[in-house]
Amino acid sequence: MLKYPYRAVIFDLDGVLTDTAHYHYLAWKQIADEVGAFFDETVNEQLKGVDRMGSLNLILAASGKHFTEDEKLDLAVKKNLHYQQLIAHISPDDLLPGAALALQAIRDAGLKTALASVSKNAQAVIEKLGISQQFDAVADAAFITHSKPHPEIFLTAAAHLGVDPQDCLGVEDSIAGIRAIRSAHMFALGIGSPTVLTEANVVIAGLHEFNLHDYLKRDL
Ligand code: BG6
Ligand code: MG
Repeated sequence: MLKYPYRAVIFDLDGVLTDTAHYHYLAWKQIADEVGAFFDETVNEQLKGVDRMGSLNLILAASGKHFTEDEKLDLAVKKNLHYQQLIAHISPDDLLPGAALALQAIRDAGLKTALASVSKNAQAVIEKLGISQQFDAVADAAFITHSKPHPEIFLTAAAHLGVDPQDCLGVEDSIAGIRAIRSAHMFALGIGSPTVLTEANVVIAGLHEFNLHDYLKRDL
């Protein structure tokens, strides 16, 4: 069997395994319009990987208005209700191209898999996608103190797996997430555009381009 320089692959969820990043965007867009804050797909790149209240605070700052804590909580609840409506009908058909094959290839190679999403809806989404059994560990966002770009969620996932961070490859579509992976001293595989994910070690367009053998030449 080939010897890989990794023992585990740790995945983000939204925008990596399924296109829920777009649903987060649509739900935030509704809130941004309601509070009169400019918000488009480019601004949204800064929100990806950032937790719910952190994202809301970024949107509200752009509105230039003041909101009480109660008003903020109401807006966060409203965003989440909208998001949950958007994900209600997710099924295994919503896995992005290559996602199922990548997970299987990693497991077949004898590597462990974990999920590191700061979304409190992540468990529900992987169940709808039918992939919850494909992970050896899921880092629960409810117990994470620091959102990405802090490395906490990737370090927590590695600890759950019992694998040293430097033996892990992290997969992310967000700027904040790539920073989190690098801060955790893991190899960062970006999903998306190299002009956006400038700090990733390697960027591919999607998991349909994932090939474990391509990441074997990492400098150890
Ligand atoms: C991340 C998304 O995975 O989860 C963010 O990239 C989102 O866009 C964050 O804000 C929190 O998600 P949730 O479901 O807990 O509001
Ligand atoms: Mg993501």
